Amino acid sequence: MRVGVLTGGGDCPGLNAVIRAVVRKGIGEYGFDFVGFRDGWRGPLENVTMPLGIDEVRGILPRGGTVLKSSRTNPFKIDGGVERIKDNLAANDVDALVAIGGEDTLGVATKLAALDVNVVGVPKTIDNDLSGTDFTFGFDTAVNIAMEAIDRLHTTAESHHRVLVVEVMGRHAGWIALHAGIAGGANVVLIPEQPFDIGRVCEYVEKRFESHYSPIIVVSEGAVPVEGGDMTVASGELDAFGHVRLGGIGDRLAGEIEQRTGKEARAVVLGHVQRGGTPTAFDRWLATRFGLHAITAVAEKDYGKMVALRGTDIVRVPLSEGTGELKLVKPEQYAEAQVFFG
Ligand code: F6P
Repeated sequence: MRVGVLTGGGDCPGLNAVIRAVVRKGIGEYGFDFVGFRDGWRGPLENVTMPLGIDEVRGILPRGGTVLKSSRTNPFKIDGGVERIKDNLAANDVDALVAIGGEDTLGVATKLAALDVNVVGVPKTIDNDLSGTDFTFGFDTAVNIAMEAIDRLHTTAESHHRVLVVEVMGRHAGWIALHAGIAGGANVVLIPEQPFDIGRVCEYVEKRFESHYSPIIVVSEGAVPVEGGDMTVASGELDAFGHVRLGGIGDRLAGEIEQRTGKEARAVVLGHVQRGGTPTAFDRWLATRFGLHAITAVAEKDYGKMVALRGTDIVRVPLSEGTGELKLVKPEQYAEAQVFFG
């Protein structure tokens, strides 16, 4: 059997660990051969391939990024995109495809599976917002990077009696902000699921200074002020999946806080630092196990499925279960962090 592999969407630490596990087990146990499709769905769409064998995956386990490269190409937005993908898979003698990606990449996989493309999905995203799986790989690394940044910001904030606002990634879901905020002892955590009241945030800031500590506010890039409140945010351009390019809430917040409280406030935007570099042990472990189980699903011709973590077990769920709706932070989970606000 010949298997194609692609990685799509925003990269994250652990992608190479999946690719390595898929290829090592696919060749070692099943005698498959592989072709790498480059740049996400652009690879099978435009027939951009690379060799993928034992040599290509040697030494990549600890490396961030993806040796297959990535893009946010959406074949359903391109005339004849699906037919071109089917033709290119046939031209490369590909029997099945392993697609590694988040809601967008696996959303495309879900639609292609319904159109008889043999595809198995592997969930990834630093945002941890895919349903059907307890965790996605990349998330743990991002949380650790953000936590370390928060630890460092505490000491400098206190030296200068400043408010420090840390903007972390998280377009629709506040998982990174919540986990890193709790782990780093943040004084306020603001997430997309719970619109924030700027007046309330300023009260927390003032309360924190009263106890002679400097506040650290962790904010998801997708956090928004309450509707009808007196703070607004600008919106930016859209990508091929219709997502707005975010960023800027940290600066806006710092400006508002400084103006309303008179306390000096600075913003730190962690940005793509959270997606780069070597994966944590947990992410390598999860990504490797996802890869091993994904290639077994291919061997069993169990297409249209996504591998998922449930407790400590790796299971298979229909692709549509992973991509149907996003996994968001529940109010009661957010309430746990609120105990430490102010
Ligand atoms: O989906 C993962 C993610 O890192 C989001 O947290 C973020 O909003 C987005 O990707 C940024 O994407 P890009 O690197 O394409 O700007």
